Amino acid sequence: DWTMAAYRDTKIAEIREQVGDGRVICGLSGGVDSSVAAILIHEAIGDQLTCVFVDHGLLRLNEREQVESLFRDHYNIPLVVVDAEERFMAGLDGVSDPEKKRKFIGGEFIAVFEEEANKLGGADFLAQGTLYPDVIESVSFTGGPSVTIKSHHNVGGLPERMNMKLVEPLRELFKDEVRVLGRELGLDEQFVGRHPFPGPGLAIRIPGEVTKERCDILRKADAIYLEEIRNAGLYDAIWQAFAVLLPVKTVGVMGDHRTYDSVCGLRAVTSTDGMTADVYPFDAGFLTGCATRIVNEVQGINRVVYDYTSKPPGTIEWE
Ligand code: XMP
Repeated sequence: DWTMAAYRDTKIAEIREQVGDGRVICGLSGGVDSSVAAILIHEAIGDQLTCVFVDHGLLRLNEREQVESLFRDHYNIPLVVVDAEERFMAGLDGVSDPEKKRKFIGGEFIAVFEEEANKLGGADFLAQGTLYPDVIESVSFTGGPSVTIKSHHNVGGLPERMNMKLVEPLRELFKDEVRVLGRELGLDEQFVGRHPFPGPGLAIRIPGEVTKERCDILRKADAIYLEEIRNAGLYDAIWQAFAVLLPVKTVGVMGDHRTYDSVCGLRAVTSTDGMTADVYPFDAGFLTGCATRIVNEVQGINRVVYDYTSKPPGTIEWE
């Protein structure tokens, strides 16, 4: 009978068989999928694996430090961290179309990754944390015609260019199964249970133009919202919760003066695989508390709204 422990052992054997004594490079996103893929592969082939983490400046508060500490201190997996914030911000300058943002970030990610791979002397295999829903959703929308809703960002295109074969040990799994596998591999509960985070990062949570300044504002609001969710004990009941920063300014009043600042949207959904989602029904007091803290503590935001749209018809991310 099927258990995740048996699955892990099968995959480890398959990875060893596929890779032989080749070299593998893995792009870490900070999310659960690529982390679990990397840890599984490391268990199979040890230091034949090197991980590369591209900090594109579109990460959440303290995310880079958390990944560094998990991989370097806890698992002792060879890790290269690339500070690429400036070149991503420069490339995003003036870009506000969602698909153009996604295409640029995906392409730039590949460029940075390729440079690092070359610095490492190349590799024979590229490891990815591709899941089953990624395989289907990037091809067509469930139940509909074959239309790309959003071009999902992973390192597609890189393998052919660099003449690398793919190692994708999670291709048959759904998100909840990846979490079980992560636990099986000794991954900390705090990390296993983390909400999904998209490859293009905060760029697709800032409709309109993305700047470092707007990323900084959003990071603060997002951290407050998530802290409130954790403190209320709601984190694990929610599939994904995050803040978005809208390109709209509204008038407000603080103390005795008028403000004219950006609107922040809050989103929280339940889901099992991200393909459909329901709005998380916070009680009103909770949301009021979040709004008050965000407006008081984050300079640049003076109004907070909650997104009541399920998927479909909405998508989880705003772009
Ligand atoms: P949507 O917004 O399409 O998102 O309803 C469904 C799930 O996928 C995540 N997502 C992405 N993940 N690269 C990723 O790795 C992407 O480009 C991407 N776009 C969306 C999203 O966060 C949600 O969990």
